[in-house]
Amino acid sequence: MNTLILTIDDESLRIAADKIIGGEVVAFKTETVYGLGANAYDKEAVKKIFEAKGRPADNPLIVHVADAPMLLDVCEEISDKGKLIINRLMPGAITIVARKKNVIPDIVTAGLDTVAVRIPSSIEALRFIKSAGVPIAAPSANTSTRPSPTNAKRVYEDLNGKIGLILDGGGCEIGIESTVLDITVDPPAILRPGGVSQEDIESVIGKVNVSTHSGRVRSPGQKYKHYSPLVPLVLFQRGDTAAVIAWYRSNMVSGKKTAVLYSGVNNYPKDLISVSLGDSYSEAAHSLFEALRALENEYDEILIEGFTDEGVGAALNDRLKKASGIK
Ligand code: TXA
Ligand code: MG
Repeated sequence: MNTLILTIDDESLRIAADKIIGGEVVAFKTETVYGLGANAYDKEAVKKIFEAKGRPADNPLIVHVADAPMLLDVCEEISDKGKLIINRLMPGAITIVARKKNVIPDIVTAGLDTVAVRIPSSIEALRFIKSAGVPIAAPSANTSTRPSPTNAKRVYEDLNGKIGLILDGGGCEIGIESTVLDITVDPPAILRPGGVSQEDIESVIGKVNVSTHSGRVRSPGQKYKHYSPLVPLVLFQRGDTAAVIAWYRSNMVSGKKTAVLYSGVNNYPKDLISVSLGDSYSEAAHSLFEALRALENEYDEILIEGFTDEGVGAALNDRLKKASGIK
């Protein structure tokens, strides 16, 4: 299959909408990461997402809608706290898990009786959903297990030949996936940390639980190898700069080309190859996946210290743990 990359405009949106209505998949930009979308009502189309990504069938998808009325087309009764989340934090990098309506086929939710729904804030994503006119089921637009793509070029790298169209809307502003919040339980539970922090959620609805590492897998995606570059990523405790340096130097002895990723001030000696993720946690979120994809081609190993769990730091730590193979 020939994979077209089209800059988003009225004409490419029409082509994308035709593809969606015709049962094809289209990759599109959101403010978090690029998504690989299909008509959420069309189970044959959704099947093509799983095939293109090589995604396990028991990992459910997020349904993307343009506004609250469209959200109510796919969810049953929303709790009061859920309504507050919709009113105060959507559109944005947050996904709610609610009871699903029967219009959503089982393939989207991997047979669960709940559905994950989000209203993206990205203008490009909203234009795409509105022109398609149907809810869009979409996981991140990477090959399964790889770091999520935050620009059209990285989508092409993974899915060239497997999908017909990438709508190029430029780079993703946030760079890390949405927070998944289960509102079917009280207090609601964060199943995956993401672009909207626990602090932001609690300022709206009060205390929430965090069940990302509970024994029972509640968000099936959390059990798989994920976000991994082609070369090993080694995660160190925050502040364990000495251990990073020792590891790096022993790699030098064995001839391994190594790069260190850091955020904020560079505390590493000048002879180490160190790559900045930016000054703040939000800059680190913005550049992490792209940095992993850029460095994997030039280095044999990537080293990084963890973040504090404040704000988007919790999501960064979650992605780093998964990418480095820590369960
Ligand atoms: O920012 C994002 O969320 C991006 C963009 C494209 O919107 N999407 C994304 O999708 O990250 P994906 O498929 O890579 O991750 C979806 C996560 C998985 O961890 C999945 O298990 C969880 O959401 N999920 C989906 N439906 C669920 C459900 N009914 N109950 C619990 N978890 C669910
Ligand atoms: Mg993903």
